[in-house]
Amino acid sequence: MSRMPLPYNPKVLELFRNPKNLGKMEDATVTAVAGNPLCGDMITFYLKINDQDIIEKASFESYGCAANIATSSIVTEMIKGMKLEDAWRISWKSVTEAVGGLPSIKFHCGILAVGALKRAIRKYYKNKGVSPNWLLEEPSFEEKQALEEEELAKVLSKRMKTEEEK
Ligand code: FES
Repeated sequence: MSRMPLPYNPKVLELFRNPKNLGKMEDATVTAVAGNPLCGDMITFYLKINDQDIIEKASFESYGCAANIATSSIVTEMIKGMKLEDAWRISWKSVTEAVGGLPSIKFHCGILAVGALKRAIRKYYKNKGVSPNWLLEEPSFEEKQALEEEELAKVLSKRMKTEEEK
């Protein structure tokens, strides 16, 4: 059976072909790695934050699909110059809208991009030893879907075992 190409809109395809802010950031203030348990893809988010808690720049590395590259690219552009508190409020839905929509089986790819951003923000405050009142202790929806490397490895190996037992 031949695989049907996914119906990506032109904006997603353009961002996928020419992503912005792709690559490692040497002088990042904080770095977060996150992986999606559904597809096993991973992404790294880098933020450079100034002492007023404003994001000066953001970049990413993605081992994910076109939808993940497109959404990560747009997130890094959206948050540039933003206060962390405002960046925290970005939801995966607004990011999906910003790329002009995604096929529903690709929603998790945008969730991964936002989850990595939120993990980076949380890690920044953890490293600083402060917890602003808007940063809820309970992980956000996106963070729950964007696991840390170790958690992801655990989920995937458990899944492999269950498959083997079938
Ligand atoms: Fe894994 Fe899109 S399929 S990030």
